[in-house]
Amino acid sequence: MNVYDGERMAELMAAEGMTATDDPDRADLVVLNTCHIRDRATEKVYSDIGRLRKNARVNERTAPMIAVAGCVAQAEGDEIVRRAHVDVVVGPQAYHNLPALVASAAAGTPSLDTDMPLLSKFGALPARRRVGPSAFLTVQEGCDKFCTYCVVPYTRGAEVSRPFAAIVDEAKALVDAGAREITLLGQNVNAWDDDGRGLHDLIRVLDRIPGLARIRYTTSHPNDMRQGLIDAHGDVESLMPFLHLPVQAGSDRVLKAMNRNHDTASYLRLLDRVRAVRPDIALSGDFIVGFPGETEAEFAETLRLVDAVGYAQAYSFKYSPRPGTPAADMAGAIPEVVMDERLQRLQAALGRDQQAFNQASVGRSCDVLIERRGKLPGQMLGKSPWLQSIHLMTDAAIGDMVSVDLLSAGPVSLAGAERVRVAA
Ligand code: 5AD
Ligand code: SF4
Repeated sequence: MNVYDGERMAELMAAEGMTATDDPDRADLVVLNTCHIRDRATEKVYSDIGRLRKNARVNERTAPMIAVAGCVAQAEGDEIVRRAHVDVVVGPQAYHNLPALVASAAAGTPSLDTDMPLLSKFGALPARRRVGPSAFLTVQEGCDKFCTYCVVPYTRGAEVSRPFAAIVDEAKALVDAGAREITLLGQNVNAWDDDGRGLHDLIRVLDRIPGLARIRYTTSHPNDMRQGLIDAHGDVESLMPFLHLPVQAGSDRVLKAMNRNHDTASYLRLLDRVRAVRPDIALSGDFIVGFPGETEAEFAETLRLVDAVGYAQAYSFKYSPRPGTPAADMAGAIPEVVMDERLQRLQAALGRDQQAFNQASVGRSCDVLIERRGKLPGQMLGKSPWLQSIHLMTDAAIGDMVSVDLLSAGPVSLAGAERVRVAA
């Protein structure tokens, strides 16, 4: 979602006459769009600010104006101003005000806006103009789940769904601007709802947009996975066979302490229901190791769950205490070395499963959406329906859909060969 928000902020500033640059050391304005989910992400903001200022000194130029956006801005607004003297601080629900904040900072007044206005920012954003073949579209923001480790309910606010019509309009604009694949985004995307219509109703309408070949969505919560959405996986052709469904841990005691409101058995039953309608679905998840009090036996249950599911890919993290969350005050902190060791074992298991999933695709053919150029001349990179990275030699252009034989699998990508071009 930060990628999406970053694009929208760039479009806002472009409408003010600014041009985007890939080189922060030449910029007049640097917007750091930040993440607060774990401590490491937060600390990065301060080191980035320091580096920008140092580079400006070394290059003997005026330091750029610095705006801190995103969830660190939301959570630590005043502290950032105090600690780093930045010019602008703007939260994730207020960034439609970025041009005004920058103007006021340019006039000499550092400005801070971390409001969560009732009226959504989306209405105040300029139209989408040019996007790549795979585009993001935020449909839902915020979270009411309050997992005990997580800052998102505090930084992104309560669950809010964008209106049906606004999303369909933006999807059409994205397709007009070059998108062939749209990933619907939300912290709890499958909680999306507009007047009783659920995410599956939205997907079925988007499926009819001419030129839109692929629909994805992320991130889902197991407890919002309704039958309508499962059914859509069975019969909506443009809905890709991929489901990111975080479970976080494999021990029911830990899940309870995390306030996940589901257990491992209900999670596995849910996956069975999805696989019943779409047997080839690729599954993905998020995991936290070292939650306060997690025993070795409880961690071993996570490994067992991973074995039982066979994820196509997954993200895994060491638990990071976040200020203001209930888990931050829980007893039973796990030593760093233990977390390191558990993370290594988990990632070895997940890596093995990812490789096995990719290996099982070898010998098959599938459509690949070409997204960018590869390192070698004539090489292009794209994605399979199962979100695998595929590289192949082809004269196809970015945005083309090509039919590909999958030849061999590495740990994180596959090599393919083009069959026949699918008509655009
Ligand atoms: N520590 C470690 N990982 C976390 N996540 C969320 N909060 C924390 C935390 N405090 C992970 C979860 C979530 C993903 C986006 O980040 O796995 O699904
Ligand atoms: Fe955080 Fe996801 Fe839990 Fe919400 S459901 S509190 S975003 S981990």
